[in-house]
Amino acid sequence: MPVPPYRSQEWLFDVAAGRYDVDLAVSGMESQSVEPLLPEMTTKAGYDVDRGAGKLRAAVAECYGVPAEQVLITHGAQEALYLLYAALLEPGDEVVARAPGWQQTLDLPARFGATTVSVDYDLTDGDARGGERVAEAVGPRTRMVVLNSPHNPTGLTFADHQWEPLAATDTLVVNDEEYLTDFGRSVVHHVPGSCSVSSLSKVYGFPGLRLGWLVGPPEVVEKCVNYRRYTTISNSPLLEDLGLAVLGRRETYLAAYQQRLADGWRVFRDWASDHPQLRPLPPQGTPYVCCRVDLPGTSSWDLCTELLDRERLLLMPGDVFGAPGYVRISYARPVDLLTEGLDRLGRVVTALSGLELAELP
Ligand SMILES: Cc1ncc(COP(=O)(O)O)c(C=O)c1O
Repeated sequence: MPVPPYRSQEWLFDVAAGRYDVDLAVSGMESQSVEPLLPEMTTKAGYDVDRGAGKLRAAVAECYGVPAEQVLITHGAQEALYLLYAALLEPGDEVVARAPGWQQTLDLPARFGATTVSVDYDLTDGDARGGERVAEAVGPRTRMVVLNSPHNPTGLTFADHQWEPLAATDTLVVNDEEYLTDFGRSVVHHVPGSCSVSSLSKVYGFPGLRLGWLVGPPEVVEKCVNYRRYTTISNSPLLEDLGLAVLGRRETYLAAYQQRLADGWRVFRDWASDHPQLRPLPPQGTPYVCCRVDLPGTSSWDLCTELLDRERLLLMPGDVFGAPGYVRISYARPVDLLTEGLDRLGRVVTALSGLELAELP
């Protein structure tokens, strides 16, 4: 079964490419330079160990407080999730996931003959019963539950007690923790036998290292390692060494990220109070905010394409996550850039208020 086009990547790399100079779509810390890390590199470019170099696995394990046998190093969270689907799913299985959400989770299980059962976010009450509703969707054919908390694109995050109904299901629970800063709060500490996937892409600002991981029960790790022997064999040891150097300076990178969140949120909140045309869902620890578009006659997609055409500003239309009517705005950006982007956005939403798109001067 062919996979459908990947909507968020299509938006970024096909539709919007070359049409913006202010980016409020990137979902994390701005990309960091590897230059300060290079003097620490003494790498030999041989094949790497198939599950990732011992030192790097130990460094990730330390972040979670788990044994290193539970860690598999991957090329991004995306590969970790792919390996889970490829290694564990069989025809007839069900995957319980959430919508709106990350398209890989919603569409890829079908490639392995499985069906995705999606439990919609209730955005009217901040997903208060999310844990119970997901647990209720678990049935005899459920092979895994795949969640993403903190969530892309809504910014909603499970409170600790929301894991409890899932812990009671005895199903493999996987949480995509791309946007989690403290792995002491990981799913692995709430749901026995669960898996966490994450990476250096968002919080640390190193998406180009393609350095991610899976943390889970050793038998799940082993199945994924074996599948990976059929695909990329191993990670690049050069990238792994850079990743190790990043984790060695973890506190510095985390502090810079938290500062971006705090400064950016102040700027965004002030802007939003003057622009009721966009109604934010308060983010719960994510570097972006999801806003409902309240502009008569203008869809979220129209607004985002209009912003490219008129102001060379890039936002994420909620449509690419299955959330039409919403836009995702990254506020954890350098303050000058954010202010410039919000000025541009303000001009367009103000012009569109009370006007149909076709009437815009
Ligand atoms: C929810 C979610 N999962 C996974 C990924 C993949 O990230 P990476 O493979 O760079 O870790 C992203 C990237 O935007 C994401 O938002």
